[in-house]
Amino acid sequence: MDIKSYLKKQAELINSHIERLIPSGTPEKLFDAMAYSLKAGGKRIRPVLILESAKAVGKEDVEEIMDIAVASEFIHTYSLIHDDLPAMDDDDLRRGKPTCHKVYGEAIAILAGDGLQSYAFELISKNNRLPSDKLLKVIYLLAHGTGIYGMVGGQAADILHEKENSFDDIHFIHTHKTAKFIQSCCQIGAVLAGASQEEEKALKNYGLYIGLAFQIQDDILDEIGDEEKLGKKTKKDREKNKLTYPAVYGLENSKKMAQEYVEKAVNEIKILRSPEILIQIAQYIINREV
Ligand code: IPE
Ligand code: IPE
Ligand code: MG
Ligand code: MG
Ligand code: MG
Repeated sequence: MDIKSYLKKQAELINSHIERLIPSGTPEKLFDAMAYSLKAGGKRIRPVLILESAKAVGKEDVEEIMDIAVASEFIHTYSLIHDDLPAMDDDDLRRGKPTCHKVYGEAIAILAGDGLQSYAFELISKNNRLPSDKLLKVIYLLAHGTGIYGMVGGQAADILHEKENSFDDIHFIHTHKTAKFIQSCCQIGAVLAGASQEEEKALKNYGLYIGLAFQIQDDILDEIGDEEKLGKKTKKDREKNKLTYPAVYGLENSKKMAQEYVEKAVNEIKILRSPEILIQIAQYIINREV
């Protein structure tokens, strides 16, 4: 099976667990908004990375870590809802559908994002299959990778650059807004599988490098990608004066730099027991059209 079909199958598996774990309650509109964005689709690459990182260091039964994988997608979906808000990137289309705030209004979209984030941590902490020391480490890694020292910090730098044209280092923005979350997913997989320190370090480094390549490819696709396939508007970054790799280094250099990060990532995980799928995922990240 080629990697694209393999990832599609894995995404379907994640989707069935998302269905199982989507919360319901009152006010209905809040829960509808969360479900709307969760069910709109997406590659599910972060949960897949949690599972595949665990498998790469020998974990066979990934069933018991599914809720943790799903929690990462809840956080990712929250980040997209907020990223699309008028005060941020102001986007109308996401995952091929009108953005959450277009359908439910800004206030409910903000709260749906907030709800998805806190519910992700609720989901992890109420897990009764995994030992609490592991759960605590997972909570730390997710909070660290997506919070002020990770995604939220990076998103702030991204917005500040656009509004004040400050000279934020592009490396800082990309590392924080995207790579650190992806890195935490790979590390979470390692922790849940009981990896050795050396294996965890390898996956941590791999995650950072593929995370950077992932955001560079996202920037490239904003310039040359197909709107229909991507399910989001393209050519927005220039319009919004975003600090992107193509804007700073040009398209061809950006492609080269992404390729270099992939090579670095692959080098890191050669020591793992079964690195094959992760190697293919790294390649896929820069070849993807979506
Ligand atoms: C988009 O993430 C936002 C970035 C951090 C680049 P994805 O490309 O993973 O979006 P979905 O989940 O597949 O829609
Ligand atoms: C990543 O950057 C956003 C997040 C960390 C959520 P972008 O703003 O470029 O993501 P897209 O292109 O809107 O998906
Ligand atoms: Mg953005
Ligand atoms: Mg955006
Ligand atoms: Mg983008």
